[in-house]
Amino acid sequence: MGVTKVNNKLLKYQKQLHCLEDKMEVLTEKLLEAFEELNIFYDISQSIGNLYDIKDICDIALTQVAEIVCSEKASISLMDEDREHLTIISCKGFDGKPLGKKVKIKDTLYDDVIKCRKPLLAEELDQKTVSIQKRRRYKTNSFILQPICTLPITVSDEVIGIISLADKLDKQPFTARDIKFLAAITNQTAMAIHNARLVTNLRESFLVTVRSLSAAIDAKDHYTHGHSERVCGHALGIGQTLGISQLELQQLELACLLHEVGKIGIPESVLNKKGKLTSQEMGLMHKHPVKGTDILKNTKLNKFVMTAVRHHHEKYDGKGYPDGLVGEQIPMLARIIAVADSYDAMVSNRPYRSKSSQEWAIMEIKNGTGSNYDPKVVWAFIKWITNQNSR
Ligand SMILES: [Fe+2]
Repeated sequence: MGVTKVNNKLLKYQKQLHCLEDKMEVLTEKLLEAFEELNIFYDISQSIGNLYDIKDICDIALTQVAEIVCSEKASISLMDEDREHLTIISCKGFDGKPLGKKVKIKDTLYDDVIKCRKPLLAEELDQKTVSIQKRRRYKTNSFILQPICTLPITVSDEVIGIISLADKLDKQPFTARDIKFLAAITNQTAMAIHNARLVTNLRESFLVTVRSLSAAIDAKDHYTHGHSERVCGHALGIGQTLGISQLELQQLELACLLHEVGKIGIPESVLNKKGKLTSQEMGLMHKHPVKGTDILKNTKLNKFVMTAVRHHHEKYDGKGYPDGLVGEQIPMLARIIAVADSYDAMVSNRPYRSKSSQEWAIMEIKNGTGSNYDPKVVWAFIKWITNQNSR
């Protein structure tokens, strides 16, 4: 083989090698892109997948989409029941107070996005599909600045909201890659919102059932009609003042509505007895927290609700029932119900006595600080009730 032939072959191999190197570079770039995409989707699914508060879901999704496409302005709006307006749930980069603002859909960019159910870029619309009148409207709408990218949030082909992004930091138009990312995150956001709504509906239906049960229990006792609902109101006021979490407030609400469920088994003749209870009758009454927990144990209720029902008659100094728990051994929700329950009992008529004044009842709660009640809970109760009375 001559030298020229060898050189030619070498050149050919070198070209093939360069070609392979180029392909490898493209593949590596694509792999890195895919990794980045997966990473982002994993992050967002971790952040919003377990949330049941629609505002929280929208806030997190908005932060993520704005970061991914480096946009200064972004908003998420959800469809109103009339399907003629959108309400801004989350936004960043806008002046004033756009949160909660209603935006009319008809003859706006949103109208087009909702009808075509696809992401739209304002630049595309300007050139191809939008009338001069509409173009002016887009440009004069204070929420829409060019270039803008708007995506529908859809669940089962129904648009439930809109994500809008504007003002990229690099001042460049939105790219096909931006849209791809945004569309995928929008889908995840749609599923999270849908799930949150299902959970909320389920919870509301459950609460209606619990309220009916609670009212049925209260109705057995002529003197405590509406007691559980009132205890619920006082307890939630205390809980909010203490700054407990939204989840704990929901558990507290359920526990308050169910705290007397154990009275189902107590005869009405005992519940409504005008005279003093015998020791046997008193023993029966004292069993209601344990009976309540027994009744609820097969309902798969959260354990914090169950323990609050069981321990709502414990006293801070350990002299309560059924288990004589002391101080912080008593679950926090039970310590809150203890104050709310006692207050409502004092300001309500009972078969064996007339109701007391609010002032007297508040003083009694104060006097029970550290013995009957947790000092922190009493502090929150006084703060809450004082605030209520000054309204
Ligand atoms: Fe009770």
